[in-house]
Amino acid sequence: MSAKIQSVKGTRDFYPDVLAPIRQIFDAWRRVSIRHGFQEWDGPTLELLDLYREKSGDELVGQLYRLTDSGGRELALRPEMTPTLARMVAAKINALPKPIKWFCVATLFRGENVQRGRLREFFQWNVDVIGSADMTADAEVILVGVEALRELGLTQADFQVHISNRRLVQAILSAAGIPVESHGGAYALMDKAGKLPREETARRWSEAYGSAISYEKLDALMSVATLPELRAAVGAIAPATADLESAASDTERLLAILQDFGIIEYCKINLRVVRGLAYYTGPVFEFYDRSENERAICGGGRYDDLLGKLGRAGEPAVGFGMGDVVLSLILEEKGLLKPARKGGDVMVVDAAESVRPTLHTVVAALRRGGVAADFSYAHQAIGKQLKMADKIGVSRVVILGDETTSAGRVRIKDMAGGAEREVALETLLADPRSTLGL
Ligand code: HAM
Repeated sequence: MSAKIQSVKGTRDFYPDVLAPIRQIFDAWRRVSIRHGFQEWDGPTLELLDLYREKSGDELVGQLYRLTDSGGRELALRPEMTPTLARMVAAKINALPKPIKWFCVATLFRGENVQRGRLREFFQWNVDVIGSADMTADAEVILVGVEALRELGLTQADFQVHISNRRLVQAILSAAGIPVESHGGAYALMDKAGKLPREETARRWSEAYGSAISYEKLDALMSVATLPELRAAVGAIAPATADLESAASDTERLLAILQDFGIIEYCKINLRVVRGLAYYTGPVFEFYDRSENERAICGGGRYDDLLGKLGRAGEPAVGFGMGDVVLSLILEEKGLLKPARKGGDVMVVDAAESVRPTLHTVVAALRRGGVAADFSYAHQAIGKQLKMADKIGVSRVVILGDETTSAGRVRIKDMAGGAEREVALETLLADPRSTLGL
């Protein structure tokens, strides 16, 4: 094969030092999911193209990696997990005890413009609750996301959860007289506000929807961050309707539970959060770094209609996806990713060629005893071996000297302090971890 063939744009080669910090993130995701009562699941990488055509929305479908199999079926590499989750749960809806609390860490593929924070192959952690319409489920998934970021060392000063509610925004637009068919266009403009110059958004909004809601009022609505502000801004735009009242009290309840969970300080209302995916029906949210210089760390929300569209019976659902790319950038910037550990706990070195057979036996026995032990494949000067131990970053070195070994003893060197002590080889092999002080 030609050496000139390069990797595919937007993909990564996971050399050990690239993978190690990502593993650190995976481990935190997994630990936190399990601690909150979620079970791990996974699905296939390939799905029928139709699953996304029907479920994901135009933006994602335009980015699909498509292929046709030998039977002529149109397939796609998964760009997200939610349609697969809905398909799998819908197929066994009666057999699964509810609420279903599942998480996964999956490789996804999107033919996006490659840019900072966006790749074409990336990992995404998904946390979903299916079978509960209660706002407690929405609050719980947000809690899981916040706790994972805290577990990784981020604080309230580093990130914030921006919360909106599609049903609330829809109710506001409807109550103000904007027909449902036009909501898509209105959402798109709200999504663009902040990305386009203000005058441009104002011009486009006024032209299309200005007779129902003036741009000033929309702007005020999109700038609210607290519940009282929200109530006031909504009141200025639209008369109270039953829909509006119910969506507003859902939002209120969600925030109250977030307060009970002790994470309200991490959260704020932000009605600019629209979410590109088609299936959201209620609260939606995105996690951003405080400076808002990076793209979203995470996005999710409630999708009560998706399962019903895939199976016979509907089930309410809520969840999020958090990618590894933006999160890595933020953790890296804050110095929170540990560099790759090259080797194990211990390096076993020999002071003489004659003890090589014993060294082999000791290394194998230590490993069997649960110690991550390394050694050089050939005898080298002891100084060289100690240098290698230093490079690997082990905390202890076991030294097999010529005479000590024949007397059934070995030396243990503590790499941090440099202290050395002698122990019986038999003791080391009988209880390696505690003899080594690990
Ligand atoms: P999403 O907003 O498309 O939602 O993606 C969620 C997160 O995945 C983003 O905030 C980002 O961290 C990451 N992500 C998305 N695209 C890329 C990319 N090209 N490169 C790197 N990271 C990316 C969903 O996927 C929904 N299915 C989430 C969900 C689960 N909703 C309910 N349950």
